[in-house]
Amino acid sequence: MDVIVAGDRADLVKAKDMLGAGTLALVPTMGALHEGHRSLIRLAREHADHVAVSIFVNPLQFGPNEDFSRYPRTFDVDLEVCAKEGAGVVFAPSAEEMYLPDRQVGVFAGGMGTIVEGAFRPGHFDGVLTVVLKLLNLVQPDVAVFGQKDAQQLAMIRRMVADLDVPVAIVGAPTVREPDGLALSSRNRYLSVRERATALSLSQALAAGAAETTPVRVLAAAKAVLEGATRLDPPLLLDYVELVDPMTFRPVDDDHQGEALLVVAAKVGTTRLIDNTPILPK
Ligand code: PAJ
Repeated sequence: MDVIVAGDRADLVKAKDMLGAGTLALVPTMGALHEGHRSLIRLAREHADHVAVSIFVNPLQFGPNEDFSRYPRTFDVDLEVCAKEGAGVVFAPSAEEMYLPDRQVGVFAGGMGTIVEGAFRPGHFDGVLTVVLKLLNLVQPDVAVFGQKDAQQLAMIRRMVADLDVPVAIVGAPTVREPDGLALSSRNRYLSVRERATALSLSQALAAGAAETTPVRVLAAAKAVLEGATRLDPPLLLDYVELVDPMTFRPVDDDHQGEALLVVAAKVGTTRLIDNTPILPK
């Protein structure tokens, strides 16, 4: 295998030396890599000479009742995926390597971290931004690639880079979907066949919304599909569906100019799924 695995910061320095000269792109992940992650690695290769992938299930971004302990961990397969897609380095630190036992200082995501997805996951975006800033400081890439699948995460990372003058270029990558529309997610492997059928209503609601013209109609069309899915067996348990400004995640109305983002989150059984689609002005 021609990918260099670094488990701590000393290994990481050595691994970067072994890569040699040239620009570096980082693809941060929590592992359980799928085709969406693969597409990020491929895009990263277009933006830099070398690619580093980080694999770290970040305890800070999981709430007390979330799936940290059962989050899928498939490290050996992940390494093969990274090697196959041409990553030069995999940085896979332990929690002890990442966080000092007496750590105190972290990134505060601000008001944007408490709305939409943040309203359902208190502290989540503080945890995401803290680990992303640490990874950027450790790896020191020229470019970092994130998926549009986690649209609010991507917007918050752009915000952090602007607000804190982080010296990195952020690249957004389109969402990779199954042929029937389901957005790929490491959490999809939790779904039973029937749960997966219910989960399809997320992307179906987004498609119904995207076919409409005005913000009010977009939201109404999406809500109608989701409402229907609450009567399926198993039912869709909707957290939110909102039409928001892609940069601020504040709700938009019929006066909104420019692109908007239709965002949805729901549980099916115990699995929580999110998805989004851009709504272009018509
Ligand atoms: P994770 O869920 O592993 O996702 C890693 C990256 O893959 C993120 O940028 C995410 O947006 C992207 N991704 C996930 N599903 C995708 C899909 N279907 N199509 C395209 N890209 C997709 O997001 C995280 O990890 C963590 O929060 C992290 C940023 C690593 C910080 O811990």
